[in-house]
Amino acid sequence: MGERRKDGFNRRVFLEVSLGGLAAARLATVRLPVARRAPAETAAPGTVPVTLHVNGTERRLNVDPRTTVLEALRGNLGLTGTKEGCDHGQCGACTVLIDGRRVLSCMTLTVAAGGHSVTTIEGLASAGELHPVQAAFLEHDGFQCGYCTPGQIVSAVGLLAEGCPSDDASIRECMSGNICRCGAYPNIVAAIQTARGKVATVRLKDAKSGKRPGS
Ligand code: FES
Ligand code: FES
Repeated sequence: MGERRKDGFNRRVFLEVSLGGLAAARLATVRLPVARRAPAETAAPGTVPVTLHVNGTERRLNVDPRTTVLEALRGNLGLTGTKEGCDHGQCGACTVLIDGRRVLSCMTLTVAAGGHSVTTIEGLASAGELHPVQAAFLEHDGFQCGYCTPGQIVSAVGLLAEGCPSDDASIRECMSGNICRCGAYPNIVAAIQTARGKVATVRLKDAKSGKRPGS
């Protein structure tokens, strides 16, 4: 028999409450139609509804119209992989892909991204496997403190899709919006060169299997 605390809460009570909660949750799950959507969060005065497609999942939010995508990702959705650096469009730490294109999320209003697909660092790995760019950054030590790294990796994924010329100087130019205060640039360029070949191989396989690239 577990020790009963002064407030009457002991291990048995905890289990009863927890299991009761689970049972209630199961019942609620059974009663809900499968296709029913989760309700959007309660609207606060002055907010506007926005739907983002984040890493393949529809996310419905109510945000202040001045909310940036960076704030919505980190504050509303808890996706803290995207970093805030300068918050002024100058460092690239906040880079995400919107409809596959590189965007500075600190400079983009959430309402402007409504209805569009947002890909963050959390959305790059697939089925437990790192994206080739993530794997290449590990292989080449393309980081030191790591703060700029999510932005660098997402930017590199966008770069490879854009068709930046393949020489090192062009890669440095195409990545010039992403600042690394640790100076890991040579390793970042090496990682992108390695990833270029792997991403091309993945695309080729996807084309042969009829799969959409990145799906
Ligand atoms: Fe967005 Fe620096 S935090 S560019
Ligand atoms: Fe430290 Fe880039 S790894 S800022």
